[in-house]
Amino acid sequence: MIEKIEEMFTKIAEEKVNTMQELENFRLQYIAKKGKLNSLFEDFKNVPNEQKRIIGQKLNELKTVVAEKYQKLQDVFQSTDTTKTEKDLTLTGFPLQFGSRHPLSIIKNEIVQIFSKIGFDISEGPEIEDDWHVFTSLNFPLEHPARDMQDTFFLEKNPDILLRTHTSSVQVRVMETTKPPLRFIFPGRVFRNEAVSARAHCIFHQVEGLYINKNVSFADLKQTLLYFAQEMFGAKTQIRLRPSYFPFTEPSAEMDISCTICNGKGCNVCKHSGWVEILGCGMVDPNVLICNNIDPNKYSGYAFGMGIERITMLKYQINDIRLFFENDIRFLSQFTPELT
Ligand code: DAH
Repeated sequence: MIEKIEEMFTKIAEEKVNTMQELENFRLQYIAKKGKLNSLFEDFKNVPNEQKRIIGQKLNELKTVVAEKYQKLQDVFQSTDTTKTEKDLTLTGFPLQFGSRHPLSIIKNEIVQIFSKIGFDISEGPEIEDDWHVFTSLNFPLEHPARDMQDTFFLEKNPDILLRTHTSSVQVRVMETTKPPLRFIFPGRVFRNEAVSARAHCIFHQVEGLYINKNVSFADLKQTLLYFAQEMFGAKTQIRLRPSYFPFTEPSAEMDISCTICNGKGCNVCKHSGWVEILGCGMVDPNVLICNNIDPNKYSGYAFGMGIERITMLKYQINDIRLFFENDIRFLSQFTPELT
């Protein structure tokens, strides 16, 4: 008999009740006239007299535990029962579930913080843009393939209205309204007419950086990017700059970081090279400064642009970009809740 009672204690403790129906089942199973508790009390009648005191005590304890659990659950369900007309609106909802930040937001905030620490301001521009801000004033030649329907979502033609393909357009917006010296980062969403795959998406996010002042040199750019890479990926991270081409910078480069997964030894992520590319950068092309009424003989500047998805995938070792846009709660809930 004692064993039966102990067993019931454990069962009660483990019993999960999430709906009103389950609460009713709980009542029927344990508390109702034909429930398990009463059947134990029936058995109690056959307990020899000398054991009655100790078993009776246990049985009463069990009865209290069952009643308390039932009462507690009932309170909870009544406080969230929307069918009742009188509700105590000051009660918290139940069960209270904390959300978590989207991984892209976590990393975006981190990038913003890193650059804020060294004096970069933040600005954002429109997602729907015109040809001037996305291409022409950034020194894209007329026949540049990025203007092609393949890469750009056009909303209207002649004059062209389009979804921005990069956040470099915000460079132009800021140069229009702010006199140098200027030091900004521009986080935002961009759009490209690309086939969706594990590595590419038609929507993604970038952070663009721009610094214009007197005597800005490539060494300033390199040091800023080294600082960023080490803050983001750890103090041991190394960078390397490879010559590249972008219409709006001259010279241009792509930056790799030493692979944080294998520490440069070679793995799948870095395709056994020890390095992974994370951004494009360069010295602002004098043509871009001229287009924006800044005298290239007086001022120089650097710019850089990085994909937030790419950095997030490296940080969290995520291997499919599509996961960011599916909003599957099983994926999203893996990232630390951040309540600030
Ligand atoms: N806008 C480029 C892209 O979307 C990224 C980029 C490269 C931005 C070099 C820059 C830069 O500011 O200097 O691929």
